[in-house]
Amino acid sequence: MRLSLVMPIAVLAFTSLTPALKAQTASSPAALTPPMGWNSWNYFAGKVDDKGVRAAADQIVSTGMKDAGYIYVNIDDTWEGKRDENGMLHTNDKFPDMKALADYVHSKGLKIGIYSGPGTRTCAGYEASLGHEEQDAKMYADWGIDYLKYDLCSFRSDVMQKQSPNDKAEQMRLMHAAYEKMGKALKATGRPIVYSLCQYGWDSVWEWAPALGGNLWRTTGDIQPNWNSMYTILSQQAGLEGYAGPGHWNDPDMLEVGNGRLSPAENRTHFSMWAMLAAPLLAGNDLPNMKPEVKAILTNRDVIAIDQDKLGKQASRVYSEGEVDVWMRHLSGGAVAVAVLNAGSDRYSTHPFHLDLAKLGLHGEQKGKDLWTGKNVALTQGMPLELPSHDILLVRIDAPK
Ligand code: GLA
Repeated sequence: MRLSLVMPIAVLAFTSLTPALKAQTASSPAALTPPMGWNSWNYFAGKVDDKGVRAAADQIVSTGMKDAGYIYVNIDDTWEGKRDENGMLHTNDKFPDMKALADYVHSKGLKIGIYSGPGTRTCAGYEASLGHEEQDAKMYADWGIDYLKYDLCSFRSDVMQKQSPNDKAEQMRLMHAAYEKMGKALKATGRPIVYSLCQYGWDSVWEWAPALGGNLWRTTGDIQPNWNSMYTILSQQAGLEGYAGPGHWNDPDMLEVGNGRLSPAENRTHFSMWAMLAAPLLAGNDLPNMKPEVKAILTNRDVIAIDQDKLGKQASRVYSEGEVDVWMRHLSGGAVAVAVLNAGSDRYSTHPFHLDLAKLGLHGEQKGKDLWTGKNVALTQGMPLELPSHDILLVRIDAPK
């Protein structure tokens, strides 16, 4: 599939920001571009330990991922031990000294993240933060934590269903209040800590999370390392582009690049589209055993530059024709990125996909760069594209017409 694409930008209707979002954008010092790093859950789940996190930090440096922008080393669920008589939460045996681990990660020029939730228990059944929000936030700050993922889980049964079994709206208000409480507790520490909401998109979280101090919020359920999961989540991001911007991002979940049954084409498409979505790029694979082709995808600087573009505008799905989707993202300096992705079977020269540049607001030949071959391409109106199944054409056009 080689394609040429070109042209100026389509006039896409980006939802204008609400005053609350504008205020957040102006004041938030954290996550001015989508956070990049690694998270333990997608590959290690409950097997994560101190040694594995140190190894991940080492690999982020030695593989060149750090230089490519991956900075956060995030410990997900299962680090938690028990609370003592003062309510202080301790780590479990897998993490003998969290402060020392944070110091180690920082010594590599990286940042460290951690995980909790507003209920009594995390999703994996470990101790969470209900009733200890300020205490936990202060402890994170004392350890030197830079990022918190806060996962709803047992708050549903502990509080929402218990306190208001028959009133869904009140349940949602309780949920907002719980996220606000931790947002305030983090702020009160005085340490910049990226605040990541994880409640699977309930109650249109993108509409209220920024005002509560959220820097990113999961929009959807948990990703799995297979095409159907990734593509379903991707499709559910269409229309949310107005809610993303510097300091506040939609989070379609962590990367599965290099995990499970994803083929090389599927890994490329997943990574390309998360970049188009201005999504956090949190690798979730086994870094010490990463295959070269996976590393090449995760460290593609041109694709990362799309994700990290300073303008912070998330892509829109401009049109679909059957199982081919065409997305476009506006970039700083008037550039655009165009992605053509084939979710169906192979398209051969007998019946290729014909790219309609006019639908993108582009007129005439568009000169650009194919970000996976690195070659210059020209896109023209109606040009035929032979697209392999589940593969993507991703083109950057610096001077669209
Ligand atoms: C939930 C989250 C996942 C992960 C697990 C940990 O399922 O959505 O991303 O954090 O909990 O238990």
